[in-house]
Amino acid sequence: MNTLTNVTTAATTATTPAPAPSRAWQALRKMASAPYRSAGLFAWRFAHNKLGMDPVFKHLLSRGLIAPRARVLDIGCGQGLLASLLRAADTAAARGDWPLDWAQAPHGARVTGIELMPRDVERAQRALGAQAVKGADAMDAAEFVCGDMRHTPFPASDIVVILDVLHYIDIAEQNRVLERVRTALQPGGRLLLRVGDASSRRGFRTSQWADAIITFVRGHRVLPVFGRSLAAWVVKLEALGFEVETVPMSRGTPFANVLLIAHAAHTAHAAEAP
Ligand SMILES: C[S@@+](CC[C@H](N)C(=O)[O-])C[C@H]1O[C@@H](n2cnc3c(N)ncnc32)[C@H](O)[C@@H]1O
Repeated sequence: MNTLTNVTTAATTATTPAPAPSRAWQALRKMASAPYRSAGLFAWRFAHNKLGMDPVFKHLLSRGLIAPRARVLDIGCGQGLLASLLRAADTAAARGDWPLDWAQAPHGARVTGIELMPRDVERAQRALGAQAVKGADAMDAAEFVCGDMRHTPFPASDIVVILDVLHYIDIAEQNRVLERVRTALQPGGRLLLRVGDASSRRGFRTSQWADAIITFVRGHRVLPVFGRSLAAWVVKLEALGFEVETVPMSRGTPFANVLLIAHAAHTAHAAEAP
């Protein structure tokens, strides 16, 4: 940041009160959706609606679950919405537009996204790739890889995010992905995993129906999904050496979604897990 920007930011911060959390969130939602205009109306609407309805994104920011300068791996990143939100957050915080009762903004977080669907990767790259960000140097741009999480190498990361993705592969494959995530995470790193709780039958079945409809509307083949109870998710993560916190994460929706905040212990994990 140059001196002029520093002065401007300081002046803005001194004269403008920090925004209320709800106003700040609406501004971030607008800013994070805007880049998708270059990827088409569908991509923009999808981003705007998802940020409006899904409680997880605001939770990640307000609680500071993405640390400043973190290397973030977003597995099953779709059209890269998290990367767009983190960039918007960085810009807003630099201007002083950050609620005082939120945790520190994720300044300089850098995202690598892995996504199976070429069309989503294309949307992400159009909206957020290096060429899409005027004046950005290579380090500033998010990177998106088109690949299957079962085979794509995971880079060393401080934070791994997997939101509503693992149920597309079977339990043995889920376990292998989680083991590779644990290896990719640096000591003290964190996995942010959202899953449906299969022991909550109604909510889980509702999310399966919603998933099938959205998959069909987006022109993809509807495939079977694989869930497990929240207790079973926790057992698996603990066996991998994570300390796990669970947070219900489907407020305002009929689903049974839970965010698992899994802290990687500093010591090596046990190789075998149930
Ligand atoms: C419900 S969407 C969630 C997208 C994003 N995580 C979010 O919360 O906005 C699930 C995403 O996982 C992707 N996906 C499914 N199977 C995958 C696989 N084997 N490897 C990588 N991505 C996959 C889908 O294409 C889809 O974009």
